[in-house]
Amino acid sequence: MSEEIRKKTIGRREVLKTAMASAAVVAGAGSIASSAYAAKGGNGGGKPGGGGGGTSTRNPLYIPEIHSPVDYSITAEPGLFDHTQSGGPGTEVLTYNGLMPGPTFVLSRGLESRVRLTNGLDEETTIHWHGMVVDTPVDGHPSDAVHPGQAKDYNFPVIQRAAMNWYHPHPHTLTGKQVNLGLAGGYLIRDLEEEALGLPTGSHEVPLILRDALFDRGGNLNFKTSKSGFKGTTPLVNGTLEPRLDVDTALYRFRMLNGANARVFKLVLSNGAPFTVIGNDGGLLEAPVDVAEITISGGERLDLLVDFGGLKIGDTVMLQDLTSGWDMLEFNVTALASSSTTVPAASAFPTIDKYLVEDAVMVREFSFDGMNRINGLEYDMQRIDFRVPRNQLELWRFTTGGNAPHPVHVHGTPYQVVSRSGGRNQLFPWEAGWKDTVLLDDGETIEILIKFEDFGFNYPAEYLIHCHKLSHEDAGMMLNFEVT
Ligand code: C2O
Ligand code: CU
Ligand code: CU
Repeated sequence: MSEEIRKKTIGRREVLKTAMASAAVVAGAGSIASSAYAAKGGNGGGKPGGGGGGTSTRNPLYIPEIHSPVDYSITAEPGLFDHTQSGGPGTEVLTYNGLMPGPTFVLSRGLESRVRLTNGLDEETTIHWHGMVVDTPVDGHPSDAVHPGQAKDYNFPVIQRAAMNWYHPHPHTLTGKQVNLGLAGGYLIRDLEEEALGLPTGSHEVPLILRDALFDRGGNLNFKTSKSGFKGTTPLVNGTLEPRLDVDTALYRFRMLNGANARVFKLVLSNGAPFTVIGNDGGLLEAPVDVAEITISGGERLDLLVDFGGLKIGDTVMLQDLTSGWDMLEFNVTALASSSTTVPAASAFPTIDKYLVEDAVMVREFSFDGMNRINGLEYDMQRIDFRVPRNQLELWRFTTGGNAPHPVHVHGTPYQVVSRSGGRNQLFPWEAGWKDTVLLDDGETIEILIKFEDFGFNYPAEYLIHCHKLSHEDAGMMLNFEVT
């Protein structure tokens, strides 16, 4: 663990070394597919207006702009987004700086993230840095609400390994609504361990934020929740309706996030090709694994390689969700690649120190009951529900009496999933390594091992455990705890 998450106590020289190497990473390979690239008609997204799509009638995938989160100001505000990317005026959504999804932040480990949020909404909001190991004052806790017209600085050092994290609002009872209306963005951490693998970059590394959505008659994003939660009727990828991505015959790296309120996606490729899973919430796995079908619940991330190498110009491959029967994203082969990176050998991947069940000194049980309680408790912003000593390895057991899926998310540190019994009764390859969100389905018991290392924060530090089905979270399926 200590190799995985860099403590604030590392020597000054090491910090400098990391920062310098990091700067190189940001300047070079740090660039990923972006709208700027797409606008030039590259493979990253296709031109607005749908040109260059070959025979496809689908809309060019919007690729969020990339920004460094260093001294960056972001305003949460209403705006317009053209879900068809056809140059239209757009319809009403909530945006970060006019963008939906918000900008993709890219920063190297060892550097300091400094983002100022201004609240341009007519209700309170916060930014939570989902997956980032940060101190309580910048965790976006609902009790740290930023009121309309006010601003807050979220400054923290990036002390963890490369991964795709994300940011979204976390205000009391309003998270589902604000995320649904468009407030979310990706946050990629880079490091040398990742860079050493020589993975696809530039236009061949593409963030994919999957979600469902509901539109009103005017085509504006709409949020309607019932007791059982939100169910959108239309899939969006990066906010785009019926998207397509023009690709060449190379290997691509997809940084995928399920940003839906409640929906679990069970994904396949229409040509039967596998996804090569190389990472998840907490960064790289120990080896690449090929899977034909992959499940991703709200809040989870996947780092996937897909090879279009065997295809011809004009071929298309659809990313499909088996649960809803939706076509999520079409890959449209428009060019032959002159060269391509290959899937790195297993031996090139980092090793991950495994926690051992027998080393756990404490067992805690959490039952996710109904749609709004954990262990019989509804969320109370003022109440601390349990206390966890720093540097203590604990086994946490999640159970449910029904109303699943409950994607169980913990703030403050990643964890390792050790078992699932009942229900699907197995762990999946994409649940290896480090996780911060795990899918607890009906009938299942999941055990994780978790340890809050001493990161030099201001203790006691307050964090949350909650169901990432956002309507459950907002209804109260969430607890505060303190790391002491
Ligand atoms: Cu992404 Cu506390 O959540
Ligand atoms: Cu989180
Ligand atoms: Cu739930």
